[in-house]
Amino acid sequence: MGNLFFKDENDRVDGVDKVTGKAKYFAEYQLPGLTYGVLVTSTITKGKITAIDSKAASGAPGVLGVLSHLNKPSVAGYEAEGGAKLKIFYTDQVLFNGQPIALVVADTFERATFAASLVKVTYEKGAFNTDFEKSIKDASVKKLQGAAPYVRGVENAYKTAEVQVEQTYVMPVETHNPMELHGIIADWRPNDQVTVYAKTQGVKATQNTIAGAFKIPAESVQVNSEFVGGGFGMALRTWPLEIATVMASKHLKKPVKLVITRDQMFTMVGNRPAAHQKIGLGATKDGKITGITHTAFGQSSTYENFTEGVVNMSKFMYSSENVNTNYYIVPLDMSVPIWMRGPGEATGAFALESAIDEMAHALDMDPLDFRIKNDPEKDPAQNRPFSSKYIKEAYKLGSAKIGWDKRKNKPRSIVEGSWNVGYGVSIGVFNAGRGRASVKGILKADGTLVLQSATSDIGPGTGTGMGLIASKLMNIPTDKITFELGDSSLPPAPSQGGSATLSTVGSAVNDVCVALKATIAELAANSNMDATSNFVDVLKKNNLPMIEKTIQSSQNNPDAKNYSMYSFSIHFVQVKVHQLTGVVKVSKIVSVGDSGKIVSPKTARSQMVGGAVGGIGMALTEEAILDNRYGRYVNNNFADYHVPVHADVPEVDVIFIDKPDPIVNPMGAKGMGEIAIIGFAGAVANAVFNATGKRIRSLPITPDKVL
Ligand code: MOS
Repeated sequence: MGNLFFKDENDRVDGVDKVTGKAKYFAEYQLPGLTYGVLVTSTITKGKITAIDSKAASGAPGVLGVLSHLNKPSVAGYEAEGGAKLKIFYTDQVLFNGQPIALVVADTFERATFAASLVKVTYEKGAFNTDFEKSIKDASVKKLQGAAPYVRGVENAYKTAEVQVEQTYVMPVETHNPMELHGIIADWRPNDQVTVYAKTQGVKATQNTIAGAFKIPAESVQVNSEFVGGGFGMALRTWPLEIATVMASKHLKKPVKLVITRDQMFTMVGNRPAAHQKIGLGATKDGKITGITHTAFGQSSTYENFTEGVVNMSKFMYSSENVNTNYYIVPLDMSVPIWMRGPGEATGAFALESAIDEMAHALDMDPLDFRIKNDPEKDPAQNRPFSSKYIKEAYKLGSAKIGWDKRKNKPRSIVEGSWNVGYGVSIGVFNAGRGRASVKGILKADGTLVLQSATSDIGPGTGTGMGLIASKLMNIPTDKITFELGDSSLPPAPSQGGSATLSTVGSAVNDVCVALKATIAELAANSNMDATSNFVDVLKKNNLPMIEKTIQSSQNNPDAKNYSMYSFSIHFVQVKVHQLTGVVKVSKIVSVGDSGKIVSPKTARSQMVGGAVGGIGMALTEEAILDNRYGRYVNNNFADYHVPVHADVPEVDVIFIDKPDPIVNPMGAKGMGEIAIIGFAGAVANAVFNATGKRIRSLPITPDKVL
């Protein structure tokens, strides 16, 4: 992947390929004899399929097969007992509206689409419930514990505080909706070897899931996924539709491609669960927090429980002797949710950071001063130090940049023409742990270095970051380094998620470079060369075309257990709210990341910008609206589910503290994919309050709520 136009070592290694169309995404692979699948989905929400009439579809031009529970070939892994995950085409049961119930395969996409429209399904309808808000109050709806209840000090201490805030914050279902649609190409060959081109955040995870479902060795499954057009969490698992495609390829003995439609993206690949959260905050009159109570409910499915870290940050973000949290999930007749960027924490931060702002207002304190006053030196939940935390510095830098001194504590103080102007702030935090990964390094006598790992790049620029880590350590220019990823046959690495790739795979890159350097030093010594000799000279002197090392990094440094490791962010926004229409425009953004050393400045900035875009969506526009009479989404398209576009997003100022974390990994770099969005919606809601005096506790903040 050459860089044709620029010479900046910080440029994305794949930037030119991406913008010129050379980068190949899964759906672009042309296999000989490729066939096309189209899914038929349930039009009821719960019940039983009584018949599938696929006669007309099967007889339509070009059709190769129609698979459903009536004729599906055996999938060995589905026969095993247990497992809550949806087993596609396994039974006649319908568990949610839009459930894939049949797959039509034809020689062209158009013919498959037409044939799918001919499949006639009859049902026995059952009673269903998709109403999240109603279910929270309904005692007959079972609510499951999503996490063990947590109590520090006195439960509900806020109720006896001098100043109290008790409010409920709600959020709708959001869908990830990356530009690239989900899908897979599966090519099952007669020797039970299968190759897939997939959209995945984890090639090893996809490999293992397919191998497990079909009970074949993992090595028999080759997963290719070099480029991914956005994931945001939805490609963290191998979905039933992918298993169906592999099933079809095996059955029809042909390669099959399935790319789902935009409306199917709303029911087949997870969503950010709707949430209902109650926060109780207590403080002394002079602004010391004395109690935090956070009770959260999250939407889940009836067939699989989904939980996430909604209440996590309430336990340690502020110093309070008394904290208690509860988290429940509400199983509904909907498809199972999945992590969506800043999973759980982004949901929790909206509630907590709104409540913090409400308390600051009740105390007539500046919300920044209030946060600083309650900032803990140590992690109060674990009673141990943070590995690094520069939040006060981040406040200072961000507030100076946005012009926080212009903000008035009294809402509705700034008017510009027919717009009310307001400022808001919110913090974000996410775990900065690190996993275990393997990397192979091949150092060549031609002066180049090839690094290989079965990690992914869903957009953050994994290859660019890894190249920079290696470049610095090996003193090799970045254009002589290649990082190969997205291929399950490479040394194993975890899925790209949870802001951990740079930390995890980067540590292995570090370790492999250290090992390569040691080998070069050894070779130099053995051949009586100077210890500082260039590796090219050392390899040549030893008649070696290359040396190779594969290293698995350790999961954490030994002393990591003595620290709480988190990345932090602070988002400052200025909003303008139109007095007559209630339209909210985010007019200025300053996001400050406290995520350790910045390894790759350009891609790091892009992460923060992307998080701000997602944050604007969460705050102002994104909402998947379900019609509870039918259990069906009514705005399942890009015209009605509005993801922010350029016109919605102002220039984003990104500031990094850029100080290495001494504990997390050799680079000192903490993760930053999630902190880019966590807290952002709260900052917007707080700014809207500052502009208008109206506290909106239900996302998205649409004009009807503002007026
Ligand atoms: Mo992210 S929600 O960890 O892909």
